[in-house]
Amino acid sequence: MCGIVAYFGKKAAQPILLEGLKRLEYRGYDSAGVALLKDNQFEIYKTSGRIANLEEILPEVDQQTTIGIGHTRWATHGEPNTINAHPHVDYTGKIVLVHNGIIENYGTLKKWLIKEGCQFKSDTDTEVLANLIGYFYARSQNRNGDAAPKGCDRFEWAVQQALNEIYGTYGLAILCLDCPGVMIGAKKGSPLMLGIGKNEYVFASDASAIIEHTSQAIYLSDNEMVCVSNEGFTTKTITNKTVEKELKEIEISLDQIELEGFDHYMQKEIAEQPEALRTCLNGRIDVKNGRVILGGIQNMLRDLTRTKRVILTACGTAWHAGIVGEFLFEQLARIPCEVEYASEFRYRNPIVEEGTLVIAISQSGETADTLAAIEQAKERGATVLGVVNVVGSTIARTTDAGVYLRIGPEIGVASTKAFTAQVAVLTMLAIELGRRRHLSADAAQGLLKELMGIPNKIEKILDQNDAIKAIAQANMNKENWLFLGRGFNYPVALEGALKLKEISYIHAEGLPAAEMKHGPIALITDYMPAVFIATKCSQYEKIIGNIQEVRARGGRTIVIATEGDEDIKPHADHLITVPDTMEELQPLLTVVPLQMLAYHAAVLRGHDVDKPRNLAKSVTVE
Ligand code: F6R
Repeated sequence: MCGIVAYFGKKAAQPILLEGLKRLEYRGYDSAGVALLKDNQFEIYKTSGRIANLEEILPEVDQQTTIGIGHTRWATHGEPNTINAHPHVDYTGKIVLVHNGIIENYGTLKKWLIKEGCQFKSDTDTEVLANLIGYFYARSQNRNGDAAPKGCDRFEWAVQQALNEIYGTYGLAILCLDCPGVMIGAKKGSPLMLGIGKNEYVFASDASAIIEHTSQAIYLSDNEMVCVSNEGFTTKTITNKTVEKELKEIEISLDQIELEGFDHYMQKEIAEQPEALRTCLNGRIDVKNGRVILGGIQNMLRDLTRTKRVILTACGTAWHAGIVGEFLFEQLARIPCEVEYASEFRYRNPIVEEGTLVIAISQSGETADTLAAIEQAKERGATVLGVVNVVGSTIARTTDAGVYLRIGPEIGVASTKAFTAQVAVLTMLAIELGRRRHLSADAAQGLLKELMGIPNKIEKILDQNDAIKAIAQANMNKENWLFLGRGFNYPVALEGALKLKEISYIHAEGLPAAEMKHGPIALITDYMPAVFIATKCSQYEKIIGNIQEVRARGGRTIVIATEGDEDIKPHADHLITVPDTMEELQPLLTVVPLQMLAYHAAVLRGHDVDKPRNLAKSVTVE
C-alpha cells in the first residue's frame, strides 16, 4: 500500500520517477506526486487520482535535474486530495519526503509540534514526520538538549531523532535543501530497497521500479536507514550503529512485469498459472521415491516431523489457501491443524505449546497483519515458516525458514497465481511431512505424479475462456451471487466469492454447501446465481442434493463439474468442466474457472480489474 520511488544519479530524474510510479501503481492509486531538486529548490507536482493525472501536470523533462522522489498513495489519514498527496514538505521548507506506512502517534506529536510553532497544511500523518524532522533540523538540538552535528550529518541526525520518536511503520525517501548531495531512505514495517547502479541509486518499495536500472540491490531491515551521496552509500540503524548490508541480485526480469499483449495483469496471471506451477514444482518433486525436496527447509525436516500442531496464518486469498492447507495437513500428514486470520491471531492470547509449527502464507511477504502474527508466534516460542512469493521480503526474512512460490511477480491486485502456488507448496509440505510419519510411498507417489500433471490440466480449463465469458455475460447483471462447495472445494467457494466481489463489486458469499439450510438458503430468489463446485469427490452425492435445494427455490446454478460427468448436466443452468483429479488436488483446478468468471464479469461491467475500487496490493497497514 503506497509506492515510493526515489532517484539519485546522473540521469534526468523525472522520467525515471514516472516510470517507477507506474510500476508501483498497483500499491495504491488515490493520488500521486513527485518532488524534484532543481536549482536548489524543491519543485513539487502532485494531484489526486492516478499516475496518468500526474503525468499531465509534469513539466518538460529537464536533463539537469537528476535527484527526485515520488509517491503513489493509498489513503489512510486524510482524504485522497491534492493537499494530502505526497511528497510533503516541512514547515521550514527545507525537508521533503515520501512515506509508505502509518505514524500511529501522529496525533500527540502534531499537538506538540503546533505548540512549538509548526504549521500544518494537510491532514496526513506523514506531514507530522516531515515537520518533526524539520523541527529537529532547524533547532539543532534534541529533546535532551544534545546538540546536532555540523554539515549534512545534521540532516541524518535530525532524521534519526524523529524516527526514534515515532511509533508505527515507514518506508521513506527524504531530501534536505541544505544537503543537495544527500538522499536518505529508512524502513520499519513497510518495504524499502535500494537499487545500486553505476553512479546512480534508486530507492523503491519493490524491485519492479528498480529492475530497469540495475539488478543489484540491498534490502533494508526494520529500523535501518541508508544515506546516499556522490561518494557512495552508508547503512546504519536509526540509533546510529553502522550495519553491513549484503548486495543481492534482483531475481525478477523486465518481461515478467510487462503486460505482454494481455489487457490486464490479472488476465496475464491467470493464464500464467500452468507455467508458474511448473516453476514452483520444478526440482522439488521426486515421484520415484515419493519424496519432496524443499531447499529452504530441508535441514529442519527432521525436527518438523515431530510437530504436534500446525497453525496456518494469513489474510484474504492466502487465508483461503491456508484452509486448503489445513485439510491437507490433516488428511496427508495427520497433524492437527488450524487456520487463523493473522489480524485476529495477532491480538489474541493464543495458546502456542511446544511442538507448534506456525506457517505464515503471504504473496507479498509484506502484509502487516501477517507480520505481526509472526512476531506473536515467535514470542511464544513457535517455529515459524514462511510460504512467500517475493524474494527478500520482510516476511521471508522474519520467519525461521520457508519455501518460496517461485512464480514471478504478481501485479494484479486480485491474487490468482499466488493462490494456486500457495496450495501447491502446502500440498508438497503436507506430503513430505506425511511421508516422514505414516503416508505410504505408494500414496505419496500417486499424489506427486498427479500434482506434476496439474499444469497441463489447467491449460485445458483456460481453453474454455469463451464459454466462461459467455456465462459471465449471462449473469453479470445479478447483484448477489453464492459460491458453494464441500470438503476441499469449500475454501475454493470462499475464494471464488472474494474474487468476484473485489473486482466486479457484485455482492457474493462463499459457503460450505451444507450450511445453506442453516440460514443462507433464505437468500435464494428467482434467477440468483449459485456457483456450485460439484466435482467427482467423496461428497458428490451430497452436493447434488444441495444443488437441488437451490434449484427448487428458483436459484440459477453455474456448476463446476468433472469432465465427462453426464449425470450432472440436468442440475446445471451453466456448466463448466475441469479435468478429473484426486480430491486433495481439486482446488488447484476448480479455482481457475472461478478466477476467469470473476475476471470476465468485472471487465464486462466496465471495471479496471487491476485497480479495483478502494483496494491496493500488499497491505502494509493494519
Ligand atoms: C485478494 C487478495 C488479498 C491478499 C491479502 C494477503 O485477491 O489479493 O486478499 O490475498 O491481502 O496478501 P499477501 O498474500 O500479500 O499477504
